[in-house]
Amino acid sequence: EQNATSVIASEHDKQAIHEAVSWLSKNEAIGIPTETVYGLAANALNADAVSKIFAAKNRPQDNPLIVHVSSIDMLKSILPDNHVPEVYLPVIKQHWPGPLTIILPASPMIPTSVTCGHPTVAVRFPAHPVARSLIEACGFPLAAPSANSSGKPSPTLASHVFHDLQSRIPLILDGGACDVGVESTVLDGLRSPPAILRPGGLTYEALNQVPGMNNLQVYRKHFVDKELEAAPTTPGMKYRHYSPEAMVILIDRKDEEDTAFDTKFDSVWKEQLKAIRASGVGVSKIGMLRTTQDGHDVVWETTSTTDNVECVSLQMGRHGHPEEVARGMFKGLRELDTQAVDLIFVEGISEDREGMAVMNRLRKAASKIIEV
Ligand code: TXA
Ligand code: MG
Repeated sequence: EQNATSVIASEHDKQAIHEAVSWLSKNEAIGIPTETVYGLAANALNADAVSKIFAAKNRPQDNPLIVHVSSIDMLKSILPDNHVPEVYLPVIKQHWPGPLTIILPASPMIPTSVTCGHPTVAVRFPAHPVARSLIEACGFPLAAPSANSSGKPSPTLASHVFHDLQSRIPLILDGGACDVGVESTVLDGLRSPPAILRPGGLTYEALNQVPGMNNLQVYRKHFVDKELEAAPTTPGMKYRHYSPEAMVILIDRKDEEDTAFDTKFDSVWKEQLKAIRASGVGVSKIGMLRTTQDGHDVVWETTSTTDNVECVSLQMGRHGHPEEVARGMFKGLRELDTQAVDLIFVEGISEDREGMAVMNRLRKAASKIIEV
């Protein structure tokens, strides 16, 4: 049994970085900030260190990890013949460091526990100054999945990591709230046409603009490629994910501009609550995770009692500002768990820009999806 210390750290904080390096050099796994979500990091070149990640998170053994680097030289050092495939040069130039992970040929330097035996390895160059300065100080790349217990919403604050993993890791570097709030976009440029295996912080719209990426596919139902539709997606995508303790019901809008959505949302949650109670399940407290209208203040929390139920309402961000919703979504789901609600009703948003990643996560978190 460990007892994590959470240390507030900036990239210039030599002492905190030094402490982190010393745990990582002893092959321990620690919590670190990145601009997407917090990561659970260990030396990517050491199988013993990597095994600590799987143990601490209780992660399925067949779900490969992302390797984090702090320079193109470090990237080259882990690739066969130190060669970066040409297809990636424009995306690297435009979007690294940043919320983008690319799929590359694996080399014997990378333990099979990182790749789970796949012939490829996923690599990312994070933009967070603490992550960069830590990897640089280590001199070796860090394997890091999101630092949540497997299946739970991803952590966007150091306190989320502490909540899930405090008894399993020695240290958490606290670099503040994650700016992006959803995980990196996973891009496979080795296949033709290139495909997004997991939508994330770097948008489809942005990637599509990069030279060579104009025919970019997305692993999602209503995209064009039949093979992609049928094939299993990136290994991690088959597991239940991002779920708070409370049951989640996603109420999605058919029409983005529907001015009656608020009224529909209200009648749907009331109907659902009634049906759930009629089935014999006691519900005394519910949570709402909503967007707010542009021009209105984001009031983080309001509590009211209607229909014999206590209702905690949280706002993820403004309607039409998917980057705000991405930043607030996981935090909202976790906060509602802290408040011990029995049921969460969350509002769906348009799949534009960061909305694609948001909706991918919400669909996985939800037990039920209702379109109105
Ligand atoms: O933003 C992020 O990517 C965060 C931060 C910490 O960097 N990390 C993260 O890691 O989200 P994780 O383990 O939660 O998700 C990694 C995803 C999984 O869906 C996994 O299946 C996929 O990347 N992946 C890893 N290696 C792969 C490979 N060789 N081929 C295809 N997918 C791979
Ligand atoms: Mg994860």
